[in-house]
Amino acid sequence: MHGLTSMTLGVPDVGAVASYYEDFGLRRVGDRPGRGLVLATAEGGEQLALRPAERRRLLEIGIGADDPDDLGRIEASLRRLGVAFERDAGSLRVRDPNSALQVSVQVGPRITEAAAKQEPTNGPGRADRPNGRAPAVERAARVQPRRLGHVVIGSLDQEASQRFFTEGLGFKVSDRVPGLASFMRCSTDHHNLLVQQAPVNFLHHTAWEVDDVDEVGRGATAMLEGHPERHVWGLGRHHIGSNFFWYLKDPVGNFSEYYSDLDIILDDQLWKPSVVEGARGLYNWGPPPPPSFIHPEDLAALMTGSHAPRA
Ligand SMILES: [Fe+2]
Repeated sequence: MHGLTSMTLGVPDVGAVASYYEDFGLRRVGDRPGRGLVLATAEGGEQLALRPAERRRLLEIGIGADDPDDLGRIEASLRRLGVAFERDAGSLRVRDPNSALQVSVQVGPRITEAAAKQEPTNGPGRADRPNGRAPAVERAARVQPRRLGHVVIGSLDQEASQRFFTEGLGFKVSDRVPGLASFMRCSTDHHNLLVQQAPVNFLHHTAWEVDDVDEVGRGATAMLEGHPERHVWGLGRHHIGSNFFWYLKDPVGNFSEYYSDLDIILDDQLWKPSVVEGARGLYNWGPPPPPSFIHPEDLAALMTGSHAPRA
């Protein structure tokens, strides 16, 4: 596997949600038969699909695989776990029995990102940018996420979901908050999927990579102009994964995160997964998280409506 390639969201109001993600910096592509209304990131392509649904719900995530051998390995693992799946030459579809999330693994090209420019910064005793303003304050272009980085879901049985994604699909655990959450990767990103223990299966947030902390701040500032209700939590820096973050909320209650400077794991042998407890599980610095970040306001309503999850 090489990465998180796409996601499909079920939402009650496709039009309003599409406008929100356009404001967020995605490009509206249009209706794709079988997928829904599709939006694209700058470098990840058509990564977000929206479909009408009674309540907000993450319907599917797409995972990229290098070749059919990858699919063969996953197939063998799923058989060992006794999980049913559908397979054809270039793809495999399976549902996490615990979170009910549909996962589609597809053979396809890797997403390549052009290297972001490293801009000079001044520091005490170090004038690396003499006689000039910081290039970041001169930026005028609208922030455009490079790609989808991770999704975070609540699962009724976090440990069982973790087993499904690691033993069934081959995700690796980067860090853990015991009994609460596991940060897992299917690429060199510190995490592409985070599964949290929750009273209902739901989507907590999606996260979109931008160039640097200035783009995190500029992006969120633009989103809040005329829409203070979109603010959830930021600016801050996570401890787990190290990324700068700012969380916003779409019109139906899904959180979306601008992030930059996430830990990258190129050599599995050199990364030491850790067990993190207490506040550091949430963040390293920033304003205190609002209670609604931990328990989204619509959780009770989602629980009431969750008796019959649909495909
Ligand atoms: Fe995140």
